[in-house]
Amino acid sequence: MRAVVCRSLGPLEGLVVEERPAPVPGPGQVVVAVRAAGVNYVDGLMAQGRYQIKPPTPYVPGGEIAGEVVALGEGVAGLAPGDRVLAITGLGAFAEQVALPAASVHPVPEGLGLGQAASCVQSYATMLFALTRRTTLAAGEHLLVLGAGGGIGLAAVDVARALGAEVVAAASSPDKRAAALAMGAYAAIAYEEEDLKTRARELAGGELDVVVDPVGGHHSEPALRALGPFGRFLVIGFASGPIASVPLNQVLLRNRSVIGVDWGAWAFADMAANRILVGEVLAMLAAGRLHPVVPAELPLEAAPDAMRALIERGVTGKVVLVPSAEAPGDAGQGALSARRSAR
Ligand SMILES: NC(=O)c1ccc[n+]([C@@H]2O[C@H](COP(=O)([O-])OP(=O)(O)OC[C@H]3O[C@@H](n4cnc5c(N)ncnc54)[C@H](OP(=O)(O)O)[C@@H]3O)[C@@H](O)[C@H]2O)c1
Repeated sequence: MRAVVCRSLGPLEGLVVEERPAPVPGPGQVVVAVRAAGVNYVDGLMAQGRYQIKPPTPYVPGGEIAGEVVALGEGVAGLAPGDRVLAITGLGAFAEQVALPAASVHPVPEGLGLGQAASCVQSYATMLFALTRRTTLAAGEHLLVLGAGGGIGLAAVDVARALGAEVVAAASSPDKRAAALAMGAYAAIAYEEEDLKTRARELAGGELDVVVDPVGGHHSEPALRALGPFGRFLVIGFASGPIASVPLNQVLLRNRSVIGVDWGAWAFADMAANRILVGEVLAMLAAGRLHPVVPAELPLEAAPDAMRALIERGVTGKVVLVPSAEAPGDAGQGALSARRSAR
């Protein structure tokens, strides 16, 4: 089978598609034929050696998949060949097939395409964790989402709307702002051109309750300053590169809180709790309460392009790699701009 291989951490051009032995399911495992593998910002950082986790090389990158079960190991019950499943794989997703513990795969909710299923769970689990475990977002609260046209940003808008909150989106391009508005934000700020703090307060008709920040850099401080009494600032990531230093008086004033969100570490440390969280995401998807974007599709050979496009800010929504000729059938070929699903 074909797989994307990272032989040594460094430039993304070093990633190659290689022939590898097809996986054989061990006891308690299933083999899944990957129809789509979600590409996340972190995949590119990891392959470049710029992430806190540095996998031993060579390794196959990619952390989430959707596809069909093709083989069952000894002792596996409740799954059958042909079942449509999704999984968080950790690594190894950018391949035609993966072997996984049966306990780690979930049925794809009815109505969800395999491309959507392969590209939404990491972002949505992160945001449900952030908005229900690290803080509790209440219906009617006003939330500001930075980088709102990216993977985490759109998931933040969608989860917040499902929880009954009102969302102001901030993004750099008209495309990304349009995607956030289509996801349910009531207003959007061109945060590279407008004054983020002033505009966010104007649009919210007062101060904000919660900020979701996956971007960092020079946007963090004005977003923090836009928060009202007991406002919560959720630190999700630093996609722009620099990690902001904020004056602590801005946390003291108005009794604000700055809250770190590390879904991956929590999920690894408390797998049972994470299973409950992922179950909640899947139930919300099945009930039509969440609306993940339909991702752009690229072939395995385009893994470096997909990772580079994310790192260089060039993706609206999500992108998946499609390893075989049999596409997931819910996405557009080639373009690095996802389509919104029906709300
Ligand atoms: N804490 C956690 O548990 C957790 C979980 C998952 C992901 N993350 C982190 O969250 C961050 C966002 O992930 P994502 O999947 O949403 O990525 P993404 O889809 O690439 O979106 C990131 C957004 O950041 C903005 N951005 C601003 N300056 C940028 C720059 N110089 N380069 C790239 N992007 C820039 C872009 O929006 P504009 O163009 O509109 O500015 C972009 O759309 C990453 O740092 C990731 O590692 C954290």
